[in-house]
Amino acid sequence: MTNESQQQMHLINHKDLESFVVQILIGNGTPQESAAIVAKCLVSADLRGVDTHGSNRIPSYMERIRQQALNASATPTLRQVTPVVAQIDGHNGFGFVAAHQGMARAIEMAKDFGMGMVSIKHSNHFGMSAWLVKQALDAGMMSLVFTNSSPALPVWGGKEKMMGVSPIACGAPSGNAARPFILDMAPSIAARGKIYKALRRGEKIPTDWALDKNGDRTDDPAKALEGVMLPMGGPKGSALSIMMDVFSGVFSGAAFAGHVTNPYDPSKPADVGHFLVAIRPDLFMTMDEFKERMDYLYKRVTESEKMSGVDQIYFPGEIEMITEEKRLAEGIPFADAEIASLNKEADLVKVEHLRVQE
Ligand SMILES: NC(=O)c1ccc[n+]([C@@H]2O[C@H](COP(=O)([O-])OP(=O)(O)OC[C@H]3O[C@@H](n4cnc5c(N)ncnc54)[C@H](O)[C@@H]3O)[C@@H](O)[C@H]2O)c1
Repeated sequence: MTNESQQQMHLINHKDLESFVVQILIGNGTPQESAAIVAKCLVSADLRGVDTHGSNRIPSYMERIRQQALNASATPTLRQVTPVVAQIDGHNGFGFVAAHQGMARAIEMAKDFGMGMVSIKHSNHFGMSAWLVKQALDAGMMSLVFTNSSPALPVWGGKEKMMGVSPIACGAPSGNAARPFILDMAPSIAARGKIYKALRRGEKIPTDWALDKNGDRTDDPAKALEGVMLPMGGPKGSALSIMMDVFSGVFSGAAFAGHVTNPYDPSKPADVGHFLVAIRPDLFMTMDEFKERMDYLYKRVTESEKMSGVDQIYFPGEIEMITEEKRLAEGIPFADAEIASLNKEADLVKVEHLRVQE
């Protein structure tokens, strides 16, 4: 047990967490196979230290099921459009389930034809994009993983919530001498969770993180939470967010242009869109050559000369992989309040409470 941010923290074994999440999902009408996919993706985020997109999302997802805003038993349907293109209708089921099926199909097409592209409509929030990049990596594939999301960012020059903080993710395998490349980044300067943390600690925030509700820059976390997040890199982050909407929303037939519903809003379906591509890395050279080149890139990046104050240079996704190795061995830290909120969900469906390792 540790103390972090004035909260008691407890360690949870990832297998215990995964089976607990599966039971809650099944208790809320999710079929076993879908529950296993959703739980694995959420716990994967917990393991990688992406705590904002892990099992703590269960209460909001379950509320959406209870309010019939999300159909837990929906089965996505797939339409093959060309030999390398497929479209999935998620039928308002879990985004995790539709996207998992979509990436599996993209991988099959890539095995046969070099690449596969899947567009998904009528879906829901799929959490941390990196789990899809990992699904492709497990099959030895490079990937692009795009999604749109509910409005949280203004477009550059604007002050109203318009575009989503929609993550851009992609990956490529490496050889034995390097970690794989896993980029997974939201186009905002700072995660909203960092503003909540500053609020809890009574700290100010940098003035480039957010605008208050009047559209003015603020260093007050409470005012920032009433306003909007700012895109990273000014107009460039705003453009990346619009790009996610073009490929995932406009192109797929899902909601777009600020019309995706927030995952914490249980009043109506979200209609999220996703765009997935799997690519075989050995299209232009042997797989061994590709991996050697990735290993060389990793070495060049991580061994480049450091600026002052930097101890180590990491490859994209590397910090999360190190966290995952640690958490697989030691357990995943959860705060008292987070465990209580998960156990409340367990009580609602008469499931045993989460087992805690002290
Ligand atoms: N589904 C959705 O609608 C949605 C919306 C927003 C965010 N998300 C998820 O939230 C998560 C967090 O996103 P984020 O933008 O806050 O991530 P982040 O800023 O923590 O990391 C972004 C990227 O930068 C890399 N990185 C971070 N620090 C580094 C360092 N010191 N050296 C080298 N590389 C480094 C990470 O490995 C990662 O690839 C993501 O998993 C994303 O998919 C999902």
